[in-house]
Amino acid sequence: MKHKIHITETILRDGQQSQIATRMTTADMIPALKDMDQAGFHALEVWGGATFDACLRFLNEDPWERLRTFKKHMPNTPLQMLLRGQNLLGYKNYADDVVKEFVTLSIKNGIDIIRIFDALNDLRNLETSINATKLANGHAQVALSYTTSPIHTVEYYASLAAEVEKIGGDSLCIKDMAGVLTPQTAYNLVSRIKEKTHLPIEVHTHATSGIAEMTYLKAVEAGADIIDTAISSFAGGTSQPATESMVTSLEELGFETGVDLQKVGNIAEHFNSVRDHYRREGILNPKVKDIEPRTLMYQVPGGMLSNLLSQLAEQGLEDKYEEVLQEVPKVRKDLGFPPLVTPLSQMVGTQSLMNVISGERYKLVPKEIKDYVKGLYGKAPGTIDPEIKKLIIGEEPIIHQRPADLLEDQLPRFEEEISQYARSQEDIISYALFPQQAKDFLGRREDKFYDVPVQEVNVTIDINE
Ligand code: CO
Repeated sequence: MKHKIHITETILRDGQQSQIATRMTTADMIPALKDMDQAGFHALEVWGGATFDACLRFLNEDPWERLRTFKKHMPNTPLQMLLRGQNLLGYKNYADDVVKEFVTLSIKNGIDIIRIFDALNDLRNLETSINATKLANGHAQVALSYTTSPIHTVEYYASLAAEVEKIGGDSLCIKDMAGVLTPQTAYNLVSRIKEKTHLPIEVHTHATSGIAEMTYLKAVEAGADIIDTAISSFAGGTSQPATESMVTSLEELGFETGVDLQKVGNIAEHFNSVRDHYRREGILNPKVKDIEPRTLMYQVPGGMLSNLLSQLAEQGLEDKYEEVLQEVPKVRKDLGFPPLVTPLSQMVGTQSLMNVISGERYKLVPKEIKDYVKGLYGKAPGTIDPEIKKLIIGEEPIIHQRPADLLEDQLPRFEEEISQYARSQEDIISYALFPQQAKDFLGRREDKFYDVPVQEVNVTIDINE
């Protein structure tokens, strides 16, 4: 029998998140859902932080309703979501009661596989969501945030993978949100993890730097079981490699994928018209289809590069771009090499910007960076430079326990605060995750005199995952 490579299709989450900032409406998706369910995918990635946020903030849609619609039209293929561990869909830690409730409701409303990651790969931040997923009969996939640094060696990731198996992860994902995983390293990484664990291995990368297809082939050669691709309409560039191209290549190499390219063709035809619409509207910026090899040089996600550039442009400081780019690796080193994934990518980006603009390193420090240095996001991968630590927090104490252990239950307070508009537990959780956006969405729904309009869609949220 042919060796099977499973395909996870990302167009409804990462594909559209990477290329049109998650502005795709449920109505844009519905005509393709039946074919997507029948195309033979291992899983469909459909939900995550930015898609949830965009529903409430820009599209005036209930993200839970979208999920139930997906399940109704796609009952046969497992639906997958991306979860930022104890941060859920946001940027800070939630108490365990909120994490448990969110996970339980996600599975109840249609999610089958939860891909859980922590920006720092601090596995303590994943435990509550892994346990809650399994308790609700979901599949808990643990994603290791991939990055390069003297700390992040193949051995480092292989030991983490062994730990993931111990704490109950059902499968493992090597999550390369920045698109910096090179083919030979992917081969080494997958081979070594295969020696250390029995977990199925999925590889997730972005085509930003032009090497993603090669990386997938080498990962598959080393024994990777699943790869993430996006149907061609929203593939390439900042998104994943195209499903059609990968499937064709893999099958010619003698692998079986189970994907029906006829069906995928129909789906692509639909989404091509959706893509063209957003291109005309100016929401699809042509740059997202570009190849950006500087990603490999600076090890910085493409989204972060463009975000830094636009922040500098706003202040008329474009000429500082190179300087800021060179500051990013220095800040990372000072802070113990955090991977540049949301929310750490934004935090490191802002600090680098402040170091350059203020003309004095760490003269200005955002609260989030102070919290990070105090241990409130978890354990830094490497050592935080003691001198820098002193500059940032002085003699303030560091916490060593799991950060969420410091948090009291939060659900009762959220319930109370939104009682005027909430009709369900799902509404309460929407509010817990995105208080202002959810309050406005629910307010508009419940009260016809509620006069906060839906936000204009020209705002970009910088998310790297
Ligand atoms: Co991604």
